[in-house]
Amino acid sequence: MTIKVLISGSGKMGREVLHAVSAEDDMEPVGVVDLLSTEEYISLPGEGEVLVPFERDPAALITRTRPDVIVDFTSAEWTPKLAEAALQDNVRLVSGTSGLSERFLSHLGEECSKRELGAVVAANFAIGAILMQQMSRMAARFYDNAEIIEQHHDGKADAPSGTSLATAKAIVDAHGKPMSVTATKRETIQGTRGGVVDGVAIHSVRLPGLVAHQEVIFGGPGETLRIRHDTSDRASFMPGVLLAVREVMNLKSLVVGLEGLFGFESEGTRQRADAG
Ligand SMILES: NC(=O)c1ccc[n+]([C@@H]2O[C@H](COP(=O)([O-])OP(=O)(O)OC[C@H]3O[C@@H](n4cnc5c(N)ncnc54)[C@H](O)[C@@H]3O)[C@@H](O)[C@H]2O)c1
Repeated sequence: MTIKVLISGSGKMGREVLHAVSAEDDMEPVGVVDLLSTEEYISLPGEGEVLVPFERDPAALITRTRPDVIVDFTSAEWTPKLAEAALQDNVRLVSGTSGLSERFLSHLGEECSKRELGAVVAANFAIGAILMQQMSRMAARFYDNAEIIEQHHDGKADAPSGTSLATAKAIVDAHGKPMSVTATKRETIQGTRGGVVDGVAIHSVRLPGLVAHQEVIFGGPGETLRIRHDTSDRASFMPGVLLAVREVMNLKSLVVGLEGLFGFESEGTRQRADAG
C-alpha cells in the first residue's frame, strides 16, 4: 500500500520532509499546504517536471488530494487550525511543530480517541534525542540535581525548546518528585541561572551557526554525568518522521513523543499503566 502524504509547511522542515517522503517506495507526496506562502507549486527534487499541488487552504487540499497522513512542521498558531481540517476528514496528523499547548494536545487526544484515529506529536524526531531523553530518565533515579543547556540556531522562535521541556518532565517523572535546585545567594544579572521547571534549570542559547544541541548535566557528590546530543543537519529528523508516518497508519489514538513508538516508557505510558 502506498501512503498518501500531505505536507503542511513549506519552510526548511517542510521541504526536507517533501524530499524524504518522495524518496520512499511506500509513500507518495500528494500536496503541500502553507497559509503564508505565495508559491503556486513545488517541484519534486531531482524530477523538475513533477509538480506537487500547493494550496493555502488545508480543507480544499484535503478534498482534492485525499491524503492518508498530514505531516506538519509550522507554527503553534497554525497547527490547531490544520488539525481541525484533518479531523473533519479523518486524516491522521503527524506534527513536529514546537510550542503546542497542553490544551490543544488534550483536545486532539480526545478527538482522536473518539474517532479511533491515529496521530503523533513529537517535540523531537531525531533518534539520538529520544535516546538522550531515555538515558536521562535512567540517570534521574540516581541524582537529585540536574540542569539542561539547549542550543539552537538564531531563527528559532521559541525558548526553551520543546525537547528540553520534555526532557525536564521525563527527568522529574523518573525521579518521582521535583529535582533539587541548587541555591544561589546572589544573581547579579537576572536570568543567569536559567528558567526552572520542577527543579531542573534550563539554559537556552541562540546563535547563528548552531542547528540543535542539548546537554543534560547530572551532578552528585564529587561527580557529574553529561548526556549530550548534537544535530548537525535537518536530515537527522527524517528517519523519525518516516517511522511516524508508517506507524500512525496503525494507531487508534494520539501518541505524544516518538519514544512511545519505540516502546520506551514515557510519562504518557506510565499514566496509562497507572490508570489501568
Ligand atoms: N519536532 C522536531 O523534531 C522539529 C525539528 C525541527 C524543527 N521543528 C519545528 O518545526 C517548525 C518549523 O520549523 P522550520 O525550521 O521548517 O521553520 P521555517 O521558518 O523554515 O518554516 C515555518 C513554516 O511554518 C509556516 N508558518 C509560520 N507561521 C505561520 C502561521 N502563523 N500560520 C501559518 N503558517 C505559518 C511558514 O509559512 C513556513 O512554511 C518549528 O516550530 C520548529 O521549531 C521541530
